[in-house]
Amino acid sequence: MRIDILTLFPEMFHGVLEQSMLRLAQEKELVAYHLWNIRDFTLDKHNKVDDRPYGGGPGMVMTPEPVYRAIEAVEEGGAPTASRKVLLTPQGERFTQPMADTLAREDRVMLVCGHYEGFDERIRQGFDFQEISIGDYVLSGGEIPAMVVIDAIVRLVPGVLGDEDSPKNESFKDGLLEYPQYTKPREFRGMKVPDILVSGHHENIQRWRYEQAEEHTRSKRPDLFKNTPG
Ligand code: ADE
Repeated sequence: MRIDILTLFPEMFHGVLEQSMLRLAQEKELVAYHLWNIRDFTLDKHNKVDDRPYGGGPGMVMTPEPVYRAIEAVEEGGAPTASRKVLLTPQGERFTQPMADTLAREDRVMLVCGHYEGFDERIRQGFDFQEISIGDYVLSGGEIPAMVVIDAIVRLVPGVLGDEDSPKNESFKDGLLEYPQYTKPREFRGMKVPDILVSGHHENIQRWRYEQAEEHTRSKRPDLFKNTPG
């Protein structure tokens, strides 16, 4: 998978992409990250990427020219290399695990991060974007949301996680939160690991985990529980 990130602040990504699982994915050559600075695609001598909104109002709006030119440069003008384009914006569809699953199957994903008050509407008109929001709150830019989306999708790319870390039992699979997990020691400050987990009875353990996942979901996220099949 190739991930192109278009942003005014490429440095923000270095720490995140160069650590842990995201770094490992690149080292294993399962994923390649390409950072592009939108400011490099300006045509005026002041490298202006934003301007005041027509009609007045607060804040600055990202101008279309550098964003168009950046996208066109990344795709080298077109179709054969075209990628799934994602625009990070609080107006987008709320990001969910199924959306991550779908994006993780793409060969190329392009993430376009805005800053300031928003994008000139013609940026939306010119491209077939999937607009994604990471939640109902406003951040100062699309960079942190892009990092969230990258983390959620790269860990799903086959081979990135070892089999023992496989995502198949984790929260949101089957619409349920994950069951409680324990590791050593068997007793910690008076709190014991449930006997069933050390019983060696695989079937009972599976049933207990499922019941716990249901109970956790019912109490912590009743909104999710309503949508659980069966
Ligand atoms: N840009 C600013 N806020 C955002 C959010 N909540 N999700 C995605 N992009 C954003």
